[in-house]
Amino acid sequence: MLDRIDKVLEEINSFTASNSSEIESFRIKYVGKKSIINELFEDFRNVPGEQKKELGPALNKLKNLAQERLRELAEGLTSNRDQVASEIDVTLPPIHNSEGSIHPISQTKSRIIEIFERQGFNVEDGPEIDNDWNNFTALNFPENHPAREMQDTYFIERDPDVLLRTHTSNVQIRLMNKKKPPIRSIMPGRVFRNEAISARAHCFFHQVEGLCIGERISFKDLKNTLYYFSREMFGKDTKIRLRPSYFPFTEPSAEIDISCFICGGSGCKICKKTGWVEIAGSGMVDPNVLENCGIDSGKYSGFAFGMGIERITMLKYQLDDLRLFSENDLRFLKQF
Ligand code: PHE
Repeated sequence: MLDRIDKVLEEINSFTASNSSEIESFRIKYVGKKSIINELFEDFRNVPGEQKKELGPALNKLKNLAQERLRELAEGLTSNRDQVASEIDVTLPPIHNSEGSIHPISQTKSRIIEIFERQGFNVEDGPEIDNDWNNFTALNFPENHPAREMQDTYFIERDPDVLLRTHTSNVQIRLMNKKKPPIRSIMPGRVFRNEAISARAHCFFHQVEGLCIGERISFKDLKNTLYYFSREMFGKDTKIRLRPSYFPFTEPSAEIDISCFICGGSGCKICKKTGWVEIAGSGMVDPNVLENCGIDSGKYSGFAFGMGIERITMLKYQLDDLRLFSENDLRFLKQF
């Protein structure tokens, strides 16, 4: 038995621990209820009387030693931790968390809003899911007219009267129904069209449309408003050009081009050598639209315009693939 005691003694003295689970296994093996030492105490009961005198103190010594060693091991681990802590140089500059950035579409949207707010426009919001009346019919799209096909529409299957708006003009209708002129508002928002996804088209994108209705609002006001916008957005030397166009809800209608801000009009890749780039559709609100919303077209007139936020952003940053905006590739997003 003395031999067994000596062996355990040696084991305890040479035991080292580098983490708390090793200390725990020491405790289980030498100090716990089922420890080797307790086993020795069990066996001690059957030892003949005269041997007990010698073995008793040896066993007690072993037990105390095990407890002492357990304490030492635990302390060693904490002091070790203190030492590691003192090796950390708190004067080193911190490692920064990487910050997110504002999506380029949101940045352009904010910039557009800011420019129109300065011209007295307020921001109006409306639903992405709307009915045929607000998206088409009230805007003077005749039933079965091919103009509806200009905007490939997603209809809600259960009710073809309900659709995903193809432009934010639905907000213009809603606004004219609830508010009488004067109106000077812009409507930013997401719109949907059933297009095959490619570098130049997507099934959803963002627009800012604008509406200005009042007494004696003329084409001149439309031109001035968009001229101011173009110079603020693309630089003070920007010129604008209006090209005749067609929209069911405006008459006359015009496409707005700006002089190419990359080459200044001399011709480059961005403007396809024409010196001009298209940025918006516009026109004088068709009297039918005003009447559809209960506004007296004899008394009031107005202009409207609409532009794609993706398009403006692509021009501004010279991007050539629309898909970049919705793929959430951090290598792209981190550049803004
Ligand atoms: N709603 C048109 C579109 O989405 C844009 C537009 C708005 C054109 C207002 C003219 C006037 O294509």
